[in-house]
Amino acid sequence: MPRQFFVGGNFKMNGTIKSITDIIHNLNQAPLDPGTEVVIAPPGLFLLLVREHLKPEIEVCAQNVFDKPNGAFTGEISAEQLADAKIGWSLTGHSERRVVLGESDSFIASKTAAALSGGLNVIFCCGETLDQREANETIKVVTHQLAAVKEKTKDWSKIVIAYEPVWAIGTGKVATTEQAQEVHAAIRKWLAEEVSTAAADETRIIYGGSVTEKNCAELSQQADVDGFLVGGASLKPAFVDIINARQ
Ligand code: G3P
Repeated sequence: MPRQFFVGGNFKMNGTIKSITDIIHNLNQAPLDPGTEVVIAPPGLFLLLVREHLKPEIEVCAQNVFDKPNGAFTGEISAEQLADAKIGWSLTGHSERRVVLGESDSFIASKTAAALSGGLNVIFCCGETLDQREANETIKVVTHQLAAVKEKTKDWSKIVIAYEPVWAIGTGKVATTEQAQEVHAAIRKWLAEEVSTAAADETRIIYGGSVTEKNCAELSQQADVDGFLVGGASLKPAFVDIINARQ
């Protein structure tokens, strides 16, 4: 079965009640490719607002989740709480949390496992820095990040893998189609060797890093690019063109 095209919008720490309501209105009205699965990740403060007003065909995603179900963990939100609020997804492993918040591979793997066992789907992010790419370590870094998840998770059927080269995030410097395809193919090979051939065939591997309405069509034609995780452009009306990249 072909893998369903997947487009996520990661709003990061952007937006107000007004601007996010406008985005919801735009997405509710826009003609969206019914073949694309669409998931948007607003800041935690707005998850319930978005879930209440966004059309049900579009799913809502937390940008973060904790690795415990409940308890004395000030400021954190669990997978169980998200699932109870009908938020079906969470991001894990975004490079901004790895770099700015200091999250380790092992903590990210725990959060991923907790999200899955709490009933969520996960967009797991991985990717190399510019120094690592220049040192020819891209595949090593990415597979190491994936291997940490494998230690704590057997079932990959609810994981979408987002390959996001750190040097391409928010920089306007998008990976070339060849660079993206090469890493996506390496991730799929890793899945075949380390998880299962079914996981390799079925897992969506999406690209993130300066995706826009201008570069999405070409990237979407690569054999192993199953969609996008979009930051800055997901806040703009042109996000609809990225959702419809394959039309
Ligand atoms: O998670 C999406 C992301 O990090 C890419 O951001 O702004 O480069 O599309 P941006």
